[in-house]
Amino acid sequence: MRVLWIVQNGGNYKKGIIKGTGGLSRKEGSLMGAFRFLLRKGYEYVFMPLYAAYLNKKNHCSIEGDAIVKQPCSFAKKCAVGSRTYLKNTVIGEGTYIGRYNELVSTKIGKYCCLASHIIVVNATHPIRDYVSFHPAFYSTRCQAGFTFVKETCFQEFPTVDGYSCVIGNDVWIGENVTIISGIRIGDGAMIAAGAVVTKDVEPYTIVGGVPAQAIRKRFKDSDIEFLKRFQWWDRDDSWLYANAELFKSIEVLREKYDYPGNEV
Ligand SMILES: CC(C)(COP(=O)(O)OP(=O)(O)OC[C@H]1O[C@@H](n2cnc3c(N)ncnc32)[C@H](O)[C@@H]1OP(=O)(O)O)[C@@H](O)C(=O)NCCC(=O)NCCS
Repeated sequence: MRVLWIVQNGGNYKKGIIKGTGGLSRKEGSLMGAFRFLLRKGYEYVFMPLYAAYLNKKNHCSIEGDAIVKQPCSFAKKCAVGSRTYLKNTVIGEGTYIGRYNELVSTKIGKYCCLASHIIVVNATHPIRDYVSFHPAFYSTRCQAGFTFVKETCFQEFPTVDGYSCVIGNDVWIGENVTIISGIRIGDGAMIAAGAVVTKDVEPYTIVGGVPAQAIRKRFKDSDIEFLKRFQWWDRDDSWLYANAELFKSIEVLREKYDYPGNEV
């Protein structure tokens, strides 16, 4: 069987013939594939532990040496990243911690968020309504399967919000085993219940769960939420947070101290 193929090669398109049914050479099978494999392992086992140690010292972070960080990523102080978590093009805010075995690509995470384990931010999609086929060879020049039939990309594969696949606010808790579809914004103070598949934006201070995720309830009454949205405690410095931590036991206590006419919160 002979199949016409067009492969993108450094920006140029090469036309060729696949001989036989197994004619497409797999990258991993070639010499180049072996070289790439060694590079990957070197990155994982040599570069990453050293880079994590450097970040931990510089930013007072706690990044596990076997986390996988692909650039560009940025880490604010006091953040933590668990074992085997994969991060690419991801921004992590101050005080945020991320558990193990997560896959976060093109994600912006605010301050003081708590991410459990096995969370995936899905960063791409396929055409669902118009195209005859889901296969990217009909709309993308990225050669996901090693070949393409088009000369230019004609479908937006990476839905974004503010330039990221997912934007997560501040003080957000994401439970175990959550999948977030690309192009989603999760508001400040929101909570995603374990096992959810998030397909729509999540309002601030709302708990959502299920497949697809639906609102379970608000965390506080509306006036409390309005106060917290104005108050933005996560922007306070460490000494303020240390001095006021006791007030965080209850929204009433916090409001009693800080929510009064004339107090510019
Ligand atoms: C959402 C969660 C925080 C519970 O919140 P809660 O306000 O106490 O909720 P309740 O248990 O009172 O349940 C309220 C409703 O939500 C539903 N619900 C609770 N957890 C749910 C989940 N994970 N998915 C879907 N629905 C869920 C309940 O069945 C209940 O539904 P009903 O009103 O129809 O009976 C908890 O279930 C959860 O998912 N925690 C995450 C734990 C985790 O991942 N930890 C990892 C380490 S940080």
